[in-house]
Amino acid sequence: MKTIAIVGSPRKKGNTEILARHALKAIEEEGITTELVSLAGLEIKPCTACMVCKKEERCPLEDDLFPIYLKMKESDGIILASPVYFGSATASIKALMDRTGYIAYNNGRVFEGKVGGSLVVARRAGQNFTFAQLNYWFQIQGCFTPGSTYWNIAFGHGKGEVSQDEEGLKTAWNFAKHVAFLIKKLKA
Ligand SMILES: Cc1cc2nc3c(=O)[nH]c(=O)nc-3n(C[C@H](O)[C@H](O)[C@H](O)COP(=O)(O)O)c2cc1C
Repeated sequence: MKTIAIVGSPRKKGNTEILARHALKAIEEEGITTELVSLAGLEIKPCTACMVCKKEERCPLEDDLFPIYLKMKESDGIILASPVYFGSATASIKALMDRTGYIAYNNGRVFEGKVGGSLVVARRAGQNFTFAQLNYWFQIQGCFTPGSTYWNIAFGHGKGEVSQDEEGLKTAWNFAKHVAFLIKKLKA
């Protein structure tokens, strides 16, 4: 059993990564292997609508995407975590969602039945919209998205500030516990 968290911030060890690591810790406690993939420093080009993935399970764009797709495919749980950029998810995580989503959707819907959900951080506003934006992806992929004790949002601006948002951390933790619970139930 494995859960992967993809962090869509260009900032290494930033607030989104801190929140995602916190959630993964809760999942590890339940005996599930975890991996965090930061998109910081990676190249994830936008989808060009070439439609190659409609015929073959691959993307012809040469960049860092395909190995991440394979990691997502082999995982039982997927978490997408993003900071809010102008009221929205970051461009890199959106590109990853478009491309991995289209490959998966067109090649046996390979994300179907996985457990997943999203985590969002912002300085002040836009979390709810971005949370919904990320969750739409899980819905169309046929993933199971458990809830938490609040929406999975947190506050923070400067690096590390999210660590002071106790409720945000708790919400991510409780969400992660539900992810682990569901994975174990589905695998039982
Ligand atoms: C280009 C850019 C746009 C941003 N837009 C918003 C925004 O719309 N709302 C907000 O509250 N914070 C916004 N922020 C602040 C980030 O969401 C915030 O600093 C967050 O903690 C960054 O997460 P990170 O440390 O994981 O990179 C923006 C930051 C950047 C760099």
